[in-house]
Amino acid sequence: MFGNTGMSDEEKYIRQDCPIVHGIPMVSAFSSNWERIDNFQSRPEDIVIATYPKSGTTWMSEIVDMILNDGDHEKCRQAAITNRVPMLEFAVPGKMPAGTEQLAKMPSPRKVKTHLPVRLLPKSFWENGCKVIYVARNAKDVAVSFYHFDLMNKLEPHPGTWEEYFEKYMAGRVSYGSWYDHVKGWWEKRQNYPILYLFYEDMKEDPKREIRKVIQFLGKNLTEEDLDRIVYHTSFDIMKENPTTNYRMIPQSLMDHSISAFMRKGIAGDWKNHFTVAQNERFNADYEKNMAGTTLRFRTEV
Ligand code: A3P
Repeated sequence: MFGNTGMSDEEKYIRQDCPIVHGIPMVSAFSSNWERIDNFQSRPEDIVIATYPKSGTTWMSEIVDMILNDGDHEKCRQAAITNRVPMLEFAVPGKMPAGTEQLAKMPSPRKVKTHLPVRLLPKSFWENGCKVIYVARNAKDVAVSFYHFDLMNKLEPHPGTWEEYFEKYMAGRVSYGSWYDHVKGWWEKRQNYPILYLFYEDMKEDPKREIRKVIQFLGKNLTEEDLDRIVYHTSFDIMKENPTTNYRMIPQSLMDHSISAFMRKGIAGDWKNHFTVAQNERFNADYEKNMAGTTLRFRTEV
C-alpha cells in the first residue's frame, strides 16, 4: 500500500497527471526513480536505443536483439522484449522491477531502451563511449500513435478526445515533452558523438537496407540468410502475433489491448485519417517555426 492513502502502489500511478521532472512532463510512476537514473553507471558494451515515444522503439529493440543473437528468433522469443531490452526510466514501485534494477542484473552487452531527451541521458553512457541508436518518426504519426497508446496505457494520463490531445501534443504537454526538442536535441548531438540516427519511414520503405546499417554500426558480421530472417521476424505482422513483442505480457490493469492494441497499425501516414484540414494547417505552420534552423528533415510525403 502507498502510505496511508488506502491505495495500492499500482492504483497510485493509474491515470495520474505527469509531474515535471528535470523540466519535462514525466510518466508519474517513473518519476519515483530519478536519483537512480541520474547516477546510472553504464558499461562500455551497452547499446542504447533512444526514441521519442511511439517512434518504433520496440521495432528497433527487436532488431538489435535479433542481430546480437545472429538472427536466432527462437532465442529471442524466450523472454518479453521489456526484459531483453529494459527501459532505463521504467518504474512501477511495488509492481514490477525498475529498469535500473533489471539492467544491474543483466549480462553484457546490455540493450538499454530510453525515451529521455538527449540532455537527460546519464553522462556515464557518453563517458563510456556506448553505442547509441536513435529512431525518429514523423511528428504527425507520432501524435496519432501516442493518442491511441494513452487510451490503452493506464500509466499515462487519459488523453481525452483527439481534439484535446492534439492541443496537448502541440504544446508539448505530454509525457517526455516536446517532440521537436527531442528529435532536434538528439540530431544536434551527432556533431560530437557518433549516433546512428534512423527514421521510421525509411525502415518502412526498405527494412533490409536500414537493418544492414544497424548490423554495420554494431560491428556484426551476419550472412544474407541471417539478415533475411531478421527482416522477416521483425516485420509488423510477425511482431504483432509474437507474445514477446506485442506487449500482451504486460498486466491488463496497466495496458488494455481491448481499447487499442500496442501493435496498432504500423504504417506511415495514418495521421491523414485523424487530422482535420484545420488541424493540419495549424500543425504545419507550427512545424515550420519549430524546425527552422535545423538540418533535420523528415520526409514530406507522410
Ligand atoms: P502505431 O500506433 O502507429 O501502429 P514504440 O515501440 O516506440 O512505442 O512505437 C510503437 C509504434 O511502432 C506503433 O505504431 C507500432 O504499431 C509500431 N511498430 C511496432 N513494431 C513495428 C514493426 N515491426 N513495423 C512497423 N511498425 C511497428
